[in-house]
Parts: sequence; C-alpha cells; structure tokens
Amino acid sequence: MNTPSAPPSAANNTALNAAARARNDEFYTQLPDIEAELRHYPNAFRGKTVYCNCDDPRVSAFWHYFSHQFHHLGLKRLLATCYKNQNPNLFSRHDTEQAIMLDYDGFRTGETTPRPEDIGIKTLHGDGDFRSDECIALLQQADIVVTNPPFSLFREYVAQLVEHKKQFLIIGNVNAITYREVFPLIRENRVWLGYTGITAKAYKCPDGDIKKMGNTCWFTNLPHHRRKEKLILYRPYTPQDYPTYDNYDAIEVSKVANIPADYDGVMGVPITFLDKYNPDQFEILGATESEGRGFAGDLYDPTSGIAQAMAGGRRVFKRLFIRKRRHAGA
Ligand SMILES: C[S@@+](CC[C@H](N)C(=O)[O-])C[C@H]1O[C@@H](n2cnc3c(N)ncnc32)[C@H](O)[C@@H]1O
Repeated sequence: MNTPSAPPSAANNTALNAAARARNDEFYTQLPDIEAELRHYPNAFRGKTVYCNCDDPRVSAFWHYFSHQFHHLGLKRLLATCYKNQNPNLFSRHDTEQAIMLDYDGFRTGETTPRPEDIGIKTLHGDGDFRSDECIALLQQADIVVTNPPFSLFREYVAQLVEHKKQFLIIGNVNAITYREVFPLIRENRVWLGYTGITAKAYKCPDGDIKKMGNTCWFTNLPHHRRKEKLILYRPYTPQDYPTYDNYDAIEVSKVANIPADYDGVMGVPITFLDKYNPDQFEILGATESEGRGFAGDLYDPTSGIAQAMAGGRRVFKRLFIRKRRHAGA
C-alpha cells in the first residue's frame, strides 16, 4: 500500500524558499546594457573609487567595463567583491566557493584589460556578504557603488548605501520604486531612475540562457542629462478626458504622454512617468495607498476602503501623484 507522502516540513520549505530566492538573484548583467547606461555619466567617475560589491570579477561585466575603461573614465581605484556561493551546484559557473576580492589601481595602461590573476586575487575572511564588516570597510573607501545587487535584498542594499552616504548606480526591479525604503527617497529627489529608464535588458541566467527582462531599471543618485529634459505637454484638460478619482483627490491621467498642459492640480500617472521626470518641471507628491500605507497622505479618502485608485468605478493600476511646478509652465 502506498503511504501518502509527508507534507514538506517548515524547515524544508524554508530551505526551498531560500534556494528559489537565491536562484532569482543569480542573473548576470550584460556588457551592452552597462555601456548603454554608463556612457551618460562621462565625468562622474573622474578621480573616484568604484566598488562593485556583488560581483565576481571573473564573470562580472561590471568589472570588465570598469577595468577596461579605467583610464578613459579617470578612475582612481576599482574594487570588487563576490559573494561566497551557498550552493555551488546551483551556480556552477563559479570556480570556487571562496569569496574573493580584486583591488585594481590602474597599473595596466593602454587598451588591454588586466586579467584577475595579473592584479592578484585576494581571498576574503568572510563570505563576501555586502553587509559584512570587511565589505562595509571597503564600502567606506569607495565613492561610487555600481552593480546589480540581489533583488531579494534590494531594500537592505539601498538602505546601506544611503546610510553610508554613497553615490550609486544600481539595477533593480521596477517594483522597487514603491518599496517603503525606496519611494520616499524618490519623492525627495534623493534617488531617481538612470538615463535609460525602464527599458528591456538582457541577463544571463543560471541555466546559461540569455533572457530579456522588461521589468528592471537603474536606480541612481548621480546627476544625468535626462533629468533636465522638459516633457512637452500639449493636451488640453477636460473633465471628461481626465476624470477625478472616486477615492483620491486627483485626476486620472492614463498615459504619461497625455499629461494635460493646462492643469495645475494633482494628477495620477503611471509609474513609467519616472522615465520622463524632470524635478524642475514636476513634483512627486505620493503614490497610491495600495503601494504603501501613507504614501498618498491627504489625497486618499480612507472611507472608500479601497487602496487602489478608482476612476468611474474602475480600478486602475499603480499610480504616482504629481503636480506641475508653478514656474514650469506647459
Ligand atoms: C542579480 S546577480 C548580479 C551579479 C552581478 N552583479 C551582475 O550584475 O552580473 C546578484 C548577485 O549578488 C550575489 N549576492 C547574493 N547575496 C549577496 C550578499 N548578501 N552579498 C553580496 N552579494 C550577494 C549573488 O550571488 C549574485 O551573483
């Protein structure tokens, strides 16, 4: 007689979840996407120490880019640390479980990229966790952190960068825009999207396949030119085209391109607005309560009991609340 299989224990579940999380964290940024973004910060790196703190320099395109461009960018120093693999079978591309670091001062001149062995691979005492004391000590020596960190730890990752007052250019999931730890920074203009915004990027996955993902973007506090570009507005406001929400004190603008030219009140716009956000033209006031409690402040009518924005009885997707700055004109 077959005995029913035992339900997975809590411990097994935890281990499975951790493995799934780790697998989701393990995809590698490709050089063309790094180049496409980095070329918009031509002078940001001059005389600076860059730290890639989630990067095995033997496979990281971030390391490749910065070591190759070291002199062109005018870097002072380049650091990279990798995380000790918890499960070498899952991430078999790595040669060793040992966490390692590279510290490059640009001794190699010319066009050739130094090999890790030429620079001297050092082993870390710990596992290379970005939160470890030895990685924090390296972080303190860095000016700018550039990497694609593990998405599962993105909240902690950003909080650490902010705590240590670092400049950064990092890749994250678009959903992170409305994380409790991230959205207030965006609203206060302490973090914004990178130049290339929400565009599809290619990643190498643990199975070796290259997959396009449309839901990632760069997060940064480095200035770039796109934030100075003014969004051209030409649509006239009418109450029919731009209904007021049932549960928020704002009008619904379903497409960023349709933001009316002549409306000075609060508007709800899709999250892709951040791609076009010029802080001299608009201010961000909040986001729908479905994204985080308290995000909408007084704009929300709590008696509605519905956190998602509703227009004419119809629920709409995530919205940011924005307003034109008075001096900005159309
Ligand atoms: C999305 S992958 C990106 C890898 C590399 N930065 C790139 O862009 O190609 C995130 C990396 O962070 C590493 N990682 C996971 N947890 C970490 C931690 N606590 N500290 C440092 N790195 C970690 C993972 O092993 C993984 O290689």
